[in-house]
Amino acid sequence: MTLIRVPESWEISENQITPPRLYYNRRSFIKTLVGAGIGASLLPLAGCQSGTSGIGKSASETALEKSINLPKIESFTKNPDFLKVDRPIADEKVAAQYNNFYEFGGTKKIWLDAQKLPTENWKVEVAGLVKNPRTYDIDTLKQKFPLEERIYRFRCVEAWSMVLPWLGFPMKALLEDVEPTPKAKFVRFTSFYDPEITKGPGFHIGSLPWPYTEGLRIEEMANDLAFFAVGIYGHDLPKQHGAPLRMVTPWKYGFKGAKSIVKIEFVENQPATYWNTIDSNEYAFEANVNPDVPHPRWSQATEKFISSGPGISWEIKETLPYNGYGEYVGDLYT
Ligand code: MTE
Repeated sequence: MTLIRVPESWEISENQITPPRLYYNRRSFIKTLVGAGIGASLLPLAGCQSGTSGIGKSASETALEKSINLPKIESFTKNPDFLKVDRPIADEKVAAQYNNFYEFGGTKKIWLDAQKLPTENWKVEVAGLVKNPRTYDIDTLKQKFPLEERIYRFRCVEAWSMVLPWLGFPMKALLEDVEPTPKAKFVRFTSFYDPEITKGPGFHIGSLPWPYTEGLRIEEMANDLAFFAVGIYGHDLPKQHGAPLRMVTPWKYGFKGAKSIVKIEFVENQPATYWNTIDSNEYAFEANVNPDVPHPRWSQATEKFISSGPGISWEIKETLPYNGYGEYVGDLYT
């Protein structure tokens, strides 16, 4: 077993992990920033990443604790089918700093920038090819669908992984409530976007396809594993994890898990999605975890498993097909 201390900054160089179009756009953007006296501390990385915050240690610690010190979810069951993972659960503070939320930029303190997300009076519109279109407010969603805890593996397209204890409800519960019509073949999920609030440096230039969208085939959404999270570690979802509602599809790469969902739309044809629109060669619509299909710029055969903490360290593990969930989802792809 290899146990490696994570260095201060990400080991894969920026141009290795960033879609070329974004990378080159950002290079010129960063040049402008440097010209304006803003330095390399703003250098963003694409995909899934981590790093140290840009603020002093104690202020940073306090802000981090505040961001995860949220109301406990009192009423939920533990789903016995999804409680056993042969790896330890990530340390909560590590998970709460190891985020991506490009609406707020690509810097290494994204967990802090995401605290600007306004989550009051959150509504989720369900529309398109359904018998019962409706708009739920988040409290209704949390009361209507019985909540359960599920411990899932999480695998980023950039070859790191963790185990996380989500709280939420199966996507199929929502499907049963809104009843898609036979014409509905896909579903599109749209994240919150307001350019006045979500204007992180580096990601609001050029023509990036905001808002962040993701999609599933309807059979994928109906699969037992497909989950909506409203909480994590026994409490409400922190903003940096995509409060108040995000997708969790553990057999797919992490970018499929759209955060802070405001709209769910049932459609006939495969919808355009954020990363797939940026570079379909690097970020497939299906995006199932597969050790045999390398990313065009790196191997997917192994992953850096972020171990339990405290502090960030990792172990190299072999990547599992479907991230270890083949028995649940394999049939969807034969
Ligand atoms: N959803 C939105 N709206 N915006 C994003 O930038 N990043 C995706 C996904 N969902 C992203 C998003 C990526 S690349 C990853 S790896 C995961 O969120 C990260 O989830 P986490 O920060 O909770 O670990």
